[in-house]
Amino acid sequence: MIGLILVAAGSGQRLGADVPKALVRVAGDTLIGHCLQTAAQIPELTQIVVVAPPGIGPLPDVNVVAGGATRDASVRAGLDALDPATTAVLVHDAARPFAPAAVFERVIAALQAGAVAVVPALPVTDTIKRMHDGVVVESLDRAELVAVQTPQGFQVAQLRAAHDAQSSDVTDDAMLMEQLGVPVHVVEGSDHAFKITTPFDLADGPRPAGGPVTYRIGIGTDVHAFGAEPPAHVAGLEWPDTLALAGHSDGDVVAHACADALLNASGLGDLGGLIGTDRPEWKGAAGTTILRETAAHLRNNGFEPVNVGVQVIGNAPRIGPRRAEAAAVLTQAAGCPVHLSATTTDGLGLTGRGEGVAAIATALVRPVDTLDE
Ligand code: CTP
Ligand code: MG
Repeated sequence: MIGLILVAAGSGQRLGADVPKALVRVAGDTLIGHCLQTAAQIPELTQIVVVAPPGIGPLPDVNVVAGGATRDASVRAGLDALDPATTAVLVHDAARPFAPAAVFERVIAALQAGAVAVVPALPVTDTIKRMHDGVVVESLDRAELVAVQTPQGFQVAQLRAAHDAQSSDVTDDAMLMEQLGVPVHVVEGSDHAFKITTPFDLADGPRPAGGPVTYRIGIGTDVHAFGAEPPAHVAGLEWPDTLALAGHSDGDVVAHACADALLNASGLGDLGGLIGTDRPEWKGAAGTTILRETAAHLRNNGFEPVNVGVQVIGNAPRIGPRRAEAAAVLTQAAGCPVHLSATTTDGLGLTGRGEGVAAIATALVRPVDTLDE
């Protein structure tokens, strides 16, 4: 059995965000979230322990334990939470959110081949010197040097023994093994496993190995039947000459389609799930209110609307003369540009027969990174 200890309890002083580093959002998820997505791709892992910063809630299928004052103490807290039957463990920094599954697999393969301690590493590209009081004392032979990353892999019994033997503030677990004279095997690391330490590391937008995850697109549609008398509420405007559209809210198909497209793009479900179709607080609610609430919900979940395109399908109301006015109202509610067009269906179908109005929207959203805010 192979466990994973994800150490995420550091404050991230050098990054200087207003949340603990592991909860910083980048490329659509927190650092912890990215690590857990990768861990989910590793079938060999039998247990995941997240050593978490304050303020994190329970996570599905994961043990969450509180961290210590140093990384070393946090790893120890993780070890204490491991299933007693676990024989090997990977220790991974949440600060390396884009470490690819392939690196995890290489470390696991070395453990399975009998290694007691394994680290992923890359050759260094800088020339490394030792200095004292601002003066170079020595130049190290670059050919012999590697930069060590995580996940690092260990047989659990030996890692426990190493942590029991020393409690110095080491910067990685392999150091404890080295101090005991245990050979530490090196496997190939990855550029993507770099550590996020300072704001610079996020400035150019590090992205998961799969490629840039910058924008997401979504679709939404809505249809409402005409009721008995005017006015209709469509596209955020009142239409005194058009029959009202039936519905629990004000029946604004255009605003609803826009809201659904935004939710769809963000992977946040749909309007039925967000506001419910029978909840009393939404009875008669204006379409613009629903759109505004939806945009706020997106932001609370780490997404920002980029733009929305929406098309009204129906014989009435006639959008053309009031298109700019409607677009302005919808744009204000969505917090992003909303462009509006309209068409009829040449007398065909439910809209052609004048039974109601339909709308189809597409939306573009982008993940909000914590440091953008
Ligand atoms: N870590 C931890 N508990 C600590 C200190 C660090 O779990 N007491 C974790 C961090 O969350 C991070 C990893 O160890 O995933 C590597 O540490 P580092 O990059 O130094 O992160 P921080 O300690 O949070 O950052 P800083 O040193 O800038 O405060
Ligand atoms: Mg630190």
